[in-house]
Amino acid sequence: MMDTHFLIIGSGAAGLTLAVKLAETFPKKKITVVTKSDEAESNTKYAQGGVAAVFDLREDSFQKHIEDTLISGDGLCDKAVVNMVIKNGPKRLRELMDWGANFDTDADGKLKLGREGGHLEFRVIHHKDSTGYEIERTLLARVNYLKNITLLPHHFAIDLITGHHLSISKSEEISCYGAYVLDQISGAIFTIKADCTTLASGGMGQVYGHTTNPVVATGDGIAMAYRAKARIKNMEFIQFHPTALYDGNNGASFLISEAVRGFGALLRNKNGERFMLNYDERGELASRDIVSRAIVFEMKKSGVDCVYLDCTHLDIEELKKHFPNIYQTCLQNDINVAKDWIPVVPAAHYLCGGIEVDKNGKTSIKNLFACGECSYTGLHGANRLASNSLLEALVYSNRIFNYLCKHPPSRATKTIPEWNDEGTVLLRGPENLQQKTDELQQLMRRFAGVVRNNDDLKKASLQLEKLYNETEILYQKHNLNTTLSQLRNMINVAYLIIQQSLKRKENRGGYYNEDYTKKYLKE
Ligand code: FAD
Ligand code: SIN
Repeated sequence: MMDTHFLIIGSGAAGLTLAVKLAETFPKKKITVVTKSDEAESNTKYAQGGVAAVFDLREDSFQKHIEDTLISGDGLCDKAVVNMVIKNGPKRLRELMDWGANFDTDADGKLKLGREGGHLEFRVIHHKDSTGYEIERTLLARVNYLKNITLLPHHFAIDLITGHHLSISKSEEISCYGAYVLDQISGAIFTIKADCTTLASGGMGQVYGHTTNPVVATGDGIAMAYRAKARIKNMEFIQFHPTALYDGNNGASFLISEAVRGFGALLRNKNGERFMLNYDERGELASRDIVSRAIVFEMKKSGVDCVYLDCTHLDIEELKKHFPNIYQTCLQNDINVAKDWIPVVPAAHYLCGGIEVDKNGKTSIKNLFACGECSYTGLHGANRLASNSLLEALVYSNRIFNYLCKHPPSRATKTIPEWNDEGTVLLRGPENLQQKTDELQQLMRRFAGVVRNNDDLKKASLQLEKLYNETEILYQKHNLNTTLSQLRNMINVAYLIIQQSLKRKENRGGYYNEDYTKKYLKE
């Protein structure tokens, strides 16, 4: 058993920022970060476009960024949260730069600003097309330098410890006392007792299989919080990125950043027609929900599996400088962007909902906080504005930090039982788990994708129930491993997506259901 003051689950932008701040301010306190893969593996590492924040006060303003965020969120954003996050943005980015992050600047040292869908101004701060990598690098360097942070890679958080494990009466307020964690190398499960626990466990794109997210994005934090009875909100709002590289497979797909469209790339259908202006006056830079639906519509109309992103009219030398990673990856896929159109297709990219938190990152469970993609703050509403996600992660980890400075948690005194796997046996046949995972991903793609309808959602619900029952039996009878635990978590997350989709009786932002009256694309 480990005992720590602050337990953080996840080592992306949200978790690491919080760890650094706590460690610097409380040098005598222990901060433990568990992360289920290599320390850098996260959605953060793959972020391309950048971080949206207002730096150019001549052309841009906080008000303009606020308005773009509200329009994208289609009436469901919390205005006070939007206001707070956007006004905090520049401070958080300056802090990252003070910690060593390099963002692109011009010859005068002024930050270069990119533009993405839904933004009416240039305001995206970036490091070429690998902004997330640069942020992750900066944060890990700082974490590794701080002696009171214990970073545990290849440690998988299985479940939060709450009163339920301690046999505390159901009528008492639910509190969190830490987590059960699997050492993925030794296979041992142990207890981490903590005064305060923060979920910074990222997204869930893997629930769909076809996604821009890496394999770690299985929604574990949301599933753990849900099982612990925290409030989970807005799970129907899955953001599909319009332009993942079409490679014919249903697994993780390489992203072609929206910033490439911000740079002037055009979307064309199989006949070479530029179609986006038929759907929205902002053309290729309409918000993502609109562009993704337009692409699905074009693909259905002509019975094809992808559309194309055309860069051939652009200054290719400049494009290479801005997007070296995208340029190279296309070349590796035999696509020379100077003369070939890039085949693209929408893919699951981002979860706008998640664990409900207040303005200080507090969940509905005592001593449990959440920040970053696993949380629902009210910033994104029904559809996230591009590059507002890293911004949210940075701002909310700082909010949690400020709250904990003012309200330090008291030492956890409860006796925590060890993980109990008595009577369970080693699971044989991992292919069985892979088969179930494939089944889950297929049903989510088929029945809960960009365009949904109630019949499909009900079918998905029935199939999922069967999968849930079979997986619960495996869970109860066998020693837990990462694959089984992730499958269980993805099933919980899929359940939340389907049930919350069925409850939404209208079309809004990223949620589109054919059974409701709003027109296919834009009213
Ligand atoms: P993550 O960075 O995903 O970190 C989650 C961490 O939790 C990981 O370390 C993971 O291993 C760990 N973890 C998960 N489950 C467990 C568990 N059970 N036990 C232990 N550890 C666990 N947003 C922008 O704002 N701008 C962009 O340009 C941008 N581009 C993107 C490009 C791509 C390809 C992708 C996939 C996303 C992009 N996003 C972008 C979204 C953004 O990157 C993420 O929303 C953001 O990085 C989330 O940060 P996070 O710290 O909340 O989670
Ligand atoms: C991109 O670069 O297109 C992704 C930006 C984001 O998800 O915010």
